[in-house]
Amino acid sequence: MTVLVTGARGAVSAGLLRHLTGAGINVRIASSTPQPDQTLLNLHDPATFATALRGVSQVFLYANAPTAADFATAAATAGVGHIVVLSSNAVTTVADPDVNPMAAPFLAAETALRAGPATVTVLRPGSFSSNARQWMHGIRAKRAVDLPYPAARVDAVDEGDVAEVAYHTLTDSGLRGATLNLTGPDAISLAEQAHALSAALGETITVNRITREQWKQSANQYVTGDYAEALLNYWQALELHPASISTAVSDIAGRPATNFHTWVHRNIDMFR
Ligand SMILES: NC(=O)c1ccc[n+]([C@@H]2O[C@H](COP(=O)([O-])OP(=O)(O)OC[C@H]3O[C@@H](n4cnc5c(N)ncnc54)[C@H](OP(=O)(O)O)[C@@H]3O)[C@@H](O)[C@H]2O)c1
Repeated sequence: MTVLVTGARGAVSAGLLRHLTGAGINVRIASSTPQPDQTLLNLHDPATFATALRGVSQVFLYANAPTAADFATAAATAGVGHIVVLSSNAVTTVADPDVNPMAAPFLAAETALRAGPATVTVLRPGSFSSNARQWMHGIRAKRAVDLPYPAARVDAVDEGDVAEVAYHTLTDSGLRGATLNLTGPDAISLAEQAHALSAALGETITVNRITREQWKQSANQYVTGDYAEALLNYWQALELHPASISTAVSDIAGRPATNFHTWVHRNIDMFR
């Protein structure tokens, strides 16, 4: 079998590729900006799909709603039997997933892929532990993290765990067609995450509670408009009700899910 792995530069794809090549599985590595030994697959350009999919039996795919139907068609033409799509558990955690910008594109991509003939396995991770990288500049510059909802308890999932589950879904036929919510082992507040970074650095990190407007101004290079409002609402809700925790990572990987403290231990140097 040949597995097409899209998005080669991504953290999840990179982890998945280590598992697949370690197991001796034939891979085709695709990227929107391919290295010489990689295949061009630009999810924004369906004209790149057919060549990348030729001779492939399974695919690991980053969700991209606008071209998901084109991808399903191209995969069907190529005879692909199984697509594992990286979605988001926002599809199940927000109240209005059809319209909420944190969920709607993922739901649309899942639906379009399922309309094709290939079996579709859906990975729905929660908030990545690596989202803490967004605090890197503030920690380095002023030893502070500015948060609108510091008590929001998120489901911090390690991208390495998502990659490992992706590997199992591609190699264990019993998982084909599953829909898997992937979280860390416990809900941890954003303030507790900052404290974990503080402890690992051996330096005090101040957590400042800021207003929604202050946060929107500080983040407007990356997140704007309806998406910014949806993210704020998501955190606000998680201050009242912590994120739900799934056992899927430990059930499938056969070991506990990686907690945020371990992510910190592995990644602390970027915050120094
Ligand atoms: N952060 C969170 O809390 C969270 C939660 C749930 C779901 N997610 C989803 O998880 C994914 C991020 O995964 P990650 O951490 O592995 O990624 P990442 O490290 O942030 O890298 C971005 C990925 O997107 C791919 N990509 C970007 N433009 C592309 C294009 N035009 N065609 C093909 N691929 C393209 C990149 O691949 P190339 O550059 O190699 O093409 C790369 O794999 C996103 O889809 C995100 O929405 C994130």
